[in-house]
Amino acid sequence: MPPHPCGMPLRTIRWTLSRPFSMVIDMTNNKPRILGISGSLRRESYSGAILRRLQEAVAAQATIEVFPLASVPLYNADLDGEQKPEAVVALKDAIRDCEGLVLVSPEYNYGVPGVLKNAIDWASRPGYQSVLQGKPVLMIASSPGIVGGARAYAQLRQTLSSTLSRIVAVPEILISHVHSKVQDGRLTDEASLKYMLEGFNALLAEIRKR
Ligand code: FNR
Repeated sequence: MPPHPCGMPLRTIRWTLSRPFSMVIDMTNNKPRILGISGSLRRESYSGAILRRLQEAVAAQATIEVFPLASVPLYNADLDGEQKPEAVVALKDAIRDCEGLVLVSPEYNYGVPGVLKNAIDWASRPGYQSVLQGKPVLMIASSPGIVGGARAYAQLRQTLSSTLSRIVAVPEILISHVHSKVQDGRLTDEASLKYMLEGFNALLAEIRKR
């Protein structure tokens, strides 16, 4: 079977998507169930490394399940009827079933990569009443550049505000020069991890408000 462009075998993606999401998330304890989404499909993605490091660091406090966006088709209102694409149903179920979201975005051309914007577009319907409404969201951006994806971060905030999600109010979590902070697929920069953990604690506090 040919590998999918995201590096994951197609069979694995189909299996992931076909599982009922209640089996994917940790129902065996009372830890908050968080959904992590990376805005990059790249196999060696720094965004993916950031998400994995956070997942590992908070494992005692919360469960972060990563949802791969590789199979989510381009938004098409003609497909957004009763019978939605399988990956879209899985995405919306995963967002509905989690207590909070962590979005990790690279910056593409001073903005949010299409794959992440596209996923938000699918999840945002029906407008103002979607699975994103009221959902606590922690945003993280990174880039090899000096401003750490600040423009993508700002765009992401703008887009999320239209979904009525609850963006966690923390100082912006921007990881600059990310290429020097990830080694062998692992985020090794402790300062970045510290900022992320402060943000994550704020996400948990936001979740507890409900
Ligand atoms: C980039 N990159 C980039 N970086 C940046 O700081 N500002 C930018 O505007 C852009 N624009 C841009 C456009 C496109 C099409 C690509 C492919 C890349 C660099 C980008 O941030 C870098 O490749 C990241 O490593 C991508 O994230 P992942 O895949 O490592 O998560």
